[in-house]
Amino acid sequence: MSFFDRVPKMPPDPILGLTVSFRKDPRPDKVNLTIGLYQTEDGKIPLLSCVRKAEEYLCGLGKSKEYLPIDGDPSYLDSIADLIFDKHLHGHISHCLTKVQTLGGAGALRLGAEFIHQIFPEVRCHIPSLTWPNHLAIFAQANIITQKYPYYDKEKKEIMFLSLCDYLSSLTPHSLVLFHVCCHNPSGADFSKEEWQVLATLCKEKELLPFFDAAYLGFDCSFEEDAFPLRLFAKENIPFLAAVSFSKNFSLYAERVGAFFLFSTEKASGAILSQLKVLVRRNYSNPPIHGAQIVAHILQDSSLQELWKKELEQMKKRIYEVRALFVSRLTSVSTSIDYSYILKQKGFFSFCDLSELQVDKLITEYGIYMTSDGRMNVAGLNSANIDAVVKALVAVGGNG
Ligand code: LMR
Repeated sequence: MSFFDRVPKMPPDPILGLTVSFRKDPRPDKVNLTIGLYQTEDGKIPLLSCVRKAEEYLCGLGKSKEYLPIDGDPSYLDSIADLIFDKHLHGHISHCLTKVQTLGGAGALRLGAEFIHQIFPEVRCHIPSLTWPNHLAIFAQANIITQKYPYYDKEKKEIMFLSLCDYLSSLTPHSLVLFHVCCHNPSGADFSKEEWQVLATLCKEKELLPFFDAAYLGFDCSFEEDAFPLRLFAKENIPFLAAVSFSKNFSLYAERVGAFFLFSTEKASGAILSQLKVLVRRNYSNPPIHGAQIVAHILQDSSLQELWKKELEQMKKRIYEVRALFVSRLTSVSTSIDYSYILKQKGFFSFCDLSELQVDKLITEYGIYMTSDGRMNVAGLNSANIDAVVKALVAVGGNG
């Protein structure tokens, strides 16, 4: 027996593992509604025109690929902070805002979690009862104990806001609370602006530490409007952590473009950055340059920024349209299935109200892939596959 024969095998990732099975499936009419990838009407992952133009420009410069600073490209970090907080507010808070370029949103979550555990090992993280499965895994990997707070009522199809507020009120000061900024993954059910205001007051009073996951900015309203919670908490001077991803809104998945922000005080920000730099240096040394340069160039060039906003708007619009088409097609073939709640939900995902067994049937018998909890990536639907999906959902008896 070799030394490594004792390595225990892990189960496949609940989301990426299904994508592997999907790729291997030989059926030509298979449909991938698993991973959160935006797909065009003809089922392609788009290369945005603004990204192609930025790449051509950067290539023309013929710049070297020298290492970036440990915390990343400062012009990228300033450009994204100007966009997220708006230039004026960013100018106002920048001395209190620690910024680090990260490997996508997941890298930012991991960096933030490691930092919190290293400095405050007693802190627990409170996570929505339904969430992206990798949240639990990332915090566990950073040795942070997680607890679930009430979030989405699958029966009523709404956020359990009162129970959630009661839960948060009972937490000890400096508890970490993970919030999805918009387009909640997996339910598509988001807080209203009024609810965010209540949460801000609660976090302030109870001294809770929000950790915002902002992976889908621009897929509910505009990018700026979707950043409302981050702006609100900064204006109210409530310390927070944030993991930002540009995978979806720039369609730059494989470039791993993200950022970690920590909003605190001017006094603390220097020490925080020094700690984060140590974590990055010991982990992957410094971040990659290409994706960050693309995003920075697009944001710094007003015509490219305008083009990007148009392209993002088109992606968002298509998802809303396909949600409506899906519900209307279902309504026309079945009176027993009611997916009308999907119309109110935001972003890439919604639940199809299916048991694991029904999802399994969808995959094995119909080649329609979604995660085992019945989460569907609406952005994977199009006019060519929608009827097959509707027919299969009726056949497996959707809505339980
Ligand atoms: C998803 O939930 O499908 C996305 O966030 C992609 C991922 O990495 O899981």
